[in-house]
Amino acid sequence: MNSVIKSIVRQFGEPLARGTNVLTMTKPLVRQHADALCSLHRSIPYVSWGPEDFLADSAPGRHFTGKWDLSCMVFDDVGGLAGFMVAYLREHSAGHPYRSLYLHRMAVHTRHRGQGIARRILTLYDERARHYDPFLEYLTLQTNIDPANQWIIDFYERMGFEKTVLVRYPEKTDWLMVRRLTISR
Ligand SMILES: CC(C)(COP(=O)(O)OP(=O)(O)OC[C@H]1O[C@@H](n2cnc3c(N)ncnc32)[C@H](O)[C@@H]1OP(=O)(O)O)[C@@H](O)C(=O)NCCC(=O)NCCS
Repeated sequence: MNSVIKSIVRQFGEPLARGTNVLTMTKPLVRQHADALCSLHRSIPYVSWGPEDFLADSAPGRHFTGKWDLSCMVFDDVGGLAGFMVAYLREHSAGHPYRSLYLHRMAVHTRHRGQGIARRILTLYDERARHYDPFLEYLTLQTNIDPANQWIIDFYERMGFEKTVLVRYPEKTDWLMVRRLTISR
């Protein structure tokens, strides 16, 4: 287990929220909880993932650097999946002008929403990103510009992210949102 996630697990040996614990996402854990992960992923609009997407190490033209150190799963006190974050280190490129810890996918189960789990996950990454790479400056993510997705944009703005550039795909357009790491080197 990578030292960042060891730190994360140590930090949250105390529950992430009451009755929950956070673990590093591993391929065996993904396989074991594939149905629950895919079901929870369906709560994220505009995108669809099967088990193979959770297990992927790369996409065309992009390697998911650090994914198996930087992604986590949150479990409740009876071992049910309460949430997950898939994250990796993303280099800057034409379409992504920030070298950053990229928050690829996050969801919290409806049963556990409103308890501060997402806020604490994001704080966790903010605090730990520089332990992974001391030269990292940013957390980034993409989310759909569709007005029906405005609540998610509002949620991320409430979490301190700012809209930057539009990322256009044939079937959708996303905002690239960025938050500067608050922990100094
Ligand atoms: C978005 C999501 C991750 C939030 O998880 P959560 O654990 O319930 O969020 P928290 O309890 O940590 O709330 C964090 C803040 O966001 C606010 N918030 C949460 N849900 C909100 C909503 N539906 N609308 C507006 N604000 C919201 C909370 O008020 C809180 O603010 P505060 O701490 O200043 O009071 C969760 O609703 C979810 O999984 N949604 C479906 C999947 C998805 O769309 N994921 C994001 C795109 S990848």
